[in-house]
Amino acid sequence: SKQQIGVVGLAVMGKNLAWNIESRGYTVSVYNRSSEKVDDMLKESVGKQIVGTYSVEEFVSSLESPRKIMLMVQAGAATDATINSLLPLLDKGDILIDGGNTYYKDTIRRNKELSEHGIHFIGTGVSGGEEGALTGPSIMPGGQKEAYELVAPIFEAISAKVNGDACSIYIGPDGAGHYVKMVHNGIEYADMQLIAESYFLMKNVLNLSADELHEVFAEWNKGELDSYLIEITADIFKKKDAETGKPMVDVILDKAGQKGTGKWTSQSALDLGTPLPIITESVFARFISSLKEERVKASKVLSGPAPVLPEGSKEEVIEAIRRALYMSKIASYAQGFAQMRAASEEYDWNLQYGDIAMIFRGGCIIRAQFLQKIKEAYDRDPGLLNLMLDEYFKEIVESYQAALREVISIAVKNGVPVPGFSTALSYYDSYRTETLPANLIQAQRDYFGAHTYQRVDKDGTFHTEWLED
Ligand code: 6PG
Repeated sequence: SKQQIGVVGLAVMGKNLAWNIESRGYTVSVYNRSSEKVDDMLKESVGKQIVGTYSVEEFVSSLESPRKIMLMVQAGAATDATINSLLPLLDKGDILIDGGNTYYKDTIRRNKELSEHGIHFIGTGVSGGEEGALTGPSIMPGGQKEAYELVAPIFEAISAKVNGDACSIYIGPDGAGHYVKMVHNGIEYADMQLIAESYFLMKNVLNLSADELHEVFAEWNKGELDSYLIEITADIFKKKDAETGKPMVDVILDKAGQKGTGKWTSQSALDLGTPLPIITESVFARFISSLKEERVKASKVLSGPAPVLPEGSKEEVIEAIRRALYMSKIASYAQGFAQMRAASEEYDWNLQYGDIAMIFRGGCIIRAQFLQKIKEAYDRDPGLLNLMLDEYFKEIVESYQAALREVISIAVKNGVPVPGFSTALSYYDSYRTETLPANLIQAQRDYFGAHTYQRVDKDGTFHTEWLED
C-alpha cells in the first residue's frame, strides 16, 4: 500500500517533521540523497509507520496520488536540484511543498515554473526550531489554495495549537508563506536585540548578576512580555558552564551569527520603500558585533563617558526597562506588520494580518501572549494602518514612552549602546509628527538639482530659481 505523504531531506528538521506527521496517524515515506541518513532514521523509527526509500523512483512511486511531497532540504541550489530530480517522475496535480527557509522570490519563481508543468507548489514557513518541528510548529503555507486544501488536514494536525486553534493557516499565493516566515524571522531578530539591550543595561548600569537577571526575566515572563524568547532568556541566565562554573552567557563570545533571513527582511523593506528601522538596526547590531577584533582595538583608543548612576531605585529602573522593552516591541511589530501590508499590495497576496498574528501565537520562535492582542487589533479593524493606532497599543505606547525616553537617556549618559531602543523611539516620534523637516530636504533637492517640490497650500509641482536675486 502507498504512503500518504513523503519527506525528502532527513536532516534534523526533516526527520522531526516526518515523525510529527507519523505521530498524528499518517503514513510517511522518507528519502535522502545519501542513503545512510535513511538507514539511520529507520533505526530510530522502530514501531513507527515510516517507510524508507533509496531512490527518487522508489520514493515517488511509494506515494498515494495526488502525491504530497515535503522538501526539507537546504534552501537555494539544493532545493532546485531536488525539484529537478523529482519533476520527471511526477504527475499533474501532485503537490510539492518546500518547508525550508527559502527566499520568497525563489518560491514565486518555482511556483510559476512548476505550474507550467501542472504541478502545485507550496512554499511554507515552518517555525519552532527542532523541537517545534517534532511536537508542533507554526506553519505558514503559500501557494495554490486548492493544493493547500489537500494538505491542510495534515498541516493542522501537526501544527501547534492555541486554545484549540491550529497554528497553520493558508497565507496567500506563491511566495506569501515564505515572505511571512521571513518577516517572522526579522521580528525574531528585533525581539532578540531588544532583549539583549535590556540585559546589557541591567548588567552594565545596575550591575545585576546572572542569577538576578534570571529572576528579572522569569518575573517579566509572567506579565505582558510573556513569550518564548523571554522564557528561554530567563533559562539561559541560570545555566552555568560545566568547565569554569561561570554563567554560560559570560563564556560565550559576543559575535552574533546569522543565516540571512533578517537581512532579506530589511532588503525587502528598502525595495518596498517601507520603514523597518528596528529590524534593520538589529541586523546591523549583529554586523557590528561580528567586528569583534576591530572593537577590541577601538576600545583601547576611543573612550566613553564617566558612569552616571540612574535616578530612582533599582526596582524602578528595572520596571522602566521592562516598559521600554514592551513599547519597543510594539513599535517593531508595527513595522513588521506594516511591511507585510506593503508586500501584500505589491504582490497581490491579500494577506490577513489577524490570521497571521493568530498562527504566530503558538509554535514559532516569536510566540507570545501579546500576539493575541495583535489579532484582536486586526479583528477590530482589518484595515488598520499601523498597530500603534489600535486602542490597546495606543494606550500602552502613550503611557510607556516616558520610560523608553528615560531608559535611552540612562544608556546615552552611560555610553551603553541601545540601537534598538533608540530607533524604536525615533520611529514613534517620527510617525506621530505631523510636520517633519523633509520640507528642507525638498528645498535642498530643488536647489541643487531642480528636483521640484509640492506646496502645503496648493496642488501641483513647483520649482524655484534659488539664486535669483
Ligand atoms: C524559526 C527560526 C529559524 C531560524 C533561526 C536562525 O522560526 O524556527 O526563525 O527558522 O533559522 O532562528 O536564524 P539566524 O541564524 O539567521 O539567526
